[in-house]
Amino acid sequence: MTTLRAVVKGVGHYLPARTVENSEFEATLDTTDEWIRTRSGIERRHFAAEGETTSDLATHAANAALADAGLTGADIDAIILATSTADNTFPSAATMVQAKIGNTTGYAFDIQAVCAGFVFALSQANALILSGQASRVLVIGAETFSRIMDWTDRGTCVLFGDGAGALILEAAPGNGDSADRGILATDLNSDGRYRDLLYVDGGVATQNTGVLRMQGKEVFRHAVEKLAQTAHTALDKVGLSADDVDWVVPHQANIRIIQSTAKKLGVGMDRVVVTVQDHGNTSAASIPLALSVGVANGKIKRGDLVVTEAIGGGLAWGAVVLRW
Ligand code: UT7
Repeated sequence: MTTLRAVVKGVGHYLPARTVENSEFEATLDTTDEWIRTRSGIERRHFAAEGETTSDLATHAANAALADAGLTGADIDAIILATSTADNTFPSAATMVQAKIGNTTGYAFDIQAVCAGFVFALSQANALILSGQASRVLVIGAETFSRIMDWTDRGTCVLFGDGAGALILEAAPGNGDSADRGILATDLNSDGRYRDLLYVDGGVATQNTGVLRMQGKEVFRHAVEKLAQTAHTALDKVGLSADDVDWVVPHQANIRIIQSTAKKLGVGMDRVVVTVQDHGNTSAASIPLALSVGVANGKIKRGDLVVTEAIGGGLAWGAVVLRW
């Protein structure tokens, strides 16, 4: 049976020029490179330059993905930008990207599911393609979390970084089985009872942007429990198992979460793409960044079965199974 699939056509990423090593925090905080490295796996992260916004980062990543696909901005039907750090409260950062890539015929909007944002965005892009509302969707994850840090809170400010990654998904025919290229299954979840575990203490209600607050240990506990579960659920939907997976591309928050999830999934670390050491936690940007790096370094190849999974503020979490 012929069916429609949302197939990856191009991928790209962008990291701001400034790299900040763990040791830089030792001057201003009661912390050490050793603590950050052993508790989180992070060694360095990138911070946006003054005046460099999320839509700037997103545009660089989008242009890289367009070049990879051999397309221009005018060829895109829809732009979905996953971010919690849009340049302004409104309009969406996606519409800013739309203007910057020279697209005037499509439509653009942001999705806000914090660190799970890219998984939610992929799922929505898939739905647009399968329902015939778009044939080519630019899906971006971009963040400037350096703008929402409390620089006196050593439990959070050493963990996050800035960056952007982008994919282009295109409608293509498939056979309707798990050998098809493209998005094969998605699983989305949220539970608003956990809002106090990870949130920004500002916004429209307070008339200031606010800073990130996190109960790290509790978020860690939920992550380990929920990530393997959502990945299994997504794989089950298409009758696949962990043995079929070529690459797990997890949200990059903490190497210990990545390792525990891989173990629970039954996938060896030799089949996991890890970038947390170089990027820190870039929230919605972490998965597309890892996908792009995974392709650039020759790991992820056409036809590989890829599973992405993420959890973040909300709590919101989910997984996407796709064949590259
Ligand atoms: O992307 C969204 C999802 N977010 C996550 O997945 C993050 C989940 N959480 C984590 O990754 C980890 O919980 C952290 C990396 C945030 C913390 O690691 P932990 O092993 O859970 O440490 P902890 O919070 O239990 O803190 C242990 C100790 C505490 O000291 P006491 O109370 O034992 O004296 C902290 O005050 O480490 C202390 N600490 C630090 N010490 C040096 C916390 N941050 C630092 C720091 N440097 N930067």
